[in-house]
Amino acid sequence: MSAQVIDTSEKSAVAFDVERVRRDFPILAQRVNGRPLAYLDNSASSQQPRAVIDAIGTYYRESHANVHRGVHTLSQRATEGFEGAREKVRRFINARSTREVIFVRGTTEAINLVAQSYGRSNFRRGDEVVLTQLEHHANIVPWQMLAAESGLVLKVVPIDERGMIDVAAYESLLGPRTKLVTFAHVSNALGTVLPIERLIALARARAIPTLVDGAQAIPHMKIDVQALDCDFYAFSGHKMFAPTGIGVLYGREALLEAMPPWQGGGDMILTVSFSGTTYNALPYKFEAGTPSIADAIGLGVAIDYLGKLDWSAVSAYEEGLLAYATRRVGAVPGVRLIGTAERKVSVVSFVMEGVHAHDLGTILDAEGIAVRTGHHCAMPVMEFFKVPATARASLAFYNTREEIDRLAAALGRAREVFA
Ligand SMILES: Cc1ncc(COP(=O)(O)O)c(C=O)c1O
Repeated sequence: MSAQVIDTSEKSAVAFDVERVRRDFPILAQRVNGRPLAYLDNSASSQQPRAVIDAIGTYYRESHANVHRGVHTLSQRATEGFEGAREKVRRFINARSTREVIFVRGTTEAINLVAQSYGRSNFRRGDEVVLTQLEHHANIVPWQMLAAESGLVLKVVPIDERGMIDVAAYESLLGPRTKLVTFAHVSNALGTVLPIERLIALARARAIPTLVDGAQAIPHMKIDVQALDCDFYAFSGHKMFAPTGIGVLYGREALLEAMPPWQGGGDMILTVSFSGTTYNALPYKFEAGTPSIADAIGLGVAIDYLGKLDWSAVSAYEEGLLAYATRRVGAVPGVRLIGTAERKVSVVSFVMEGVHAHDLGTILDAEGIAVRTGHHCAMPVMEFFKVPATARASLAFYNTREEIDRLAAALGRAREVFA
């Protein structure tokens, strides 16, 4: 393959040096089962550039100590790294202040934080939360748990056969008892990009708070929480080329200020006595215990890395790659694409007639091709499409057309064997 891939997709031709970018990700250079690795499971977790991996090692070799509480040099270094990462996140998503950037383990924990803190203190029996049929289980189950406790009612926005949500149905579900609306920015199972600007504006017009699950959007598009005008935005580091164990809940300061802490312990308090405890200021009020310091620093370095890429070239390249993958996979005999929304990123989800998704996954793995098979933590989506599972190839900017060609060829062979 030539070092410089010229993307000639529907969009304007843009030069994007994918081979150069690939060299930044050491894991991609290996062989798996005797074949070059084709890593097409980025929606589950992305890979990390060398800069991120090195930063974690350097941190542990040179700077590790606990944050915030120490006067000694290492503690100060660790604190600077950790708080420096918070400022990088603030700039990355254009939050107004670092008080609005809460470090959590990932999207799941961010959503649970909102449910347990905002939900518990604001929702009464019969109040409603509106969410969509496209949600990942992480944005369903926390609300169901709260509903079981508090009598909260969940209202679900339906999807159509393309995997797009019905905005009119959404609007009709917004009522006087709606206390929060929440939706994925991008569906992990289908790749659908939801029209969140419109969904947020409709909620805002009724003074209903909004929580966006940004887990699948954050590696593919520029997020500006002020422009979006959402109240909460959640994402995970490991989906955006940073380590596992770190994620972010962005929250509008006025809301966070009024919310009670959801976990108690060190760092989230100012004073503790048996006659009463006072809580720390934002964002620490929501960060009980020793945080994932190295991973936060890694997240900051991933943000630095992404900041050096030309995002108009990256977006055009990814768009071309997705169009190519959709065409190639869709043309394999017996394949049915699941999720064909007008606006999509990254994901080609499909089933093959006569072949179970798990068998497909195993066959592909034998050729060094990593895809995910299963319900993708989105069982209501599978239920809608009446399939138990799909195979899902999910792309990042370091994937190539050659990898897609290998995927399509392997699928063709699988079809011949099984059909
Ligand atoms: C849309 C969406 N929401 C939430 C999550 C949960 O993310 P995490 O497991 O990093 O907490 C995922 C993970 O796949 C996801 O795709």
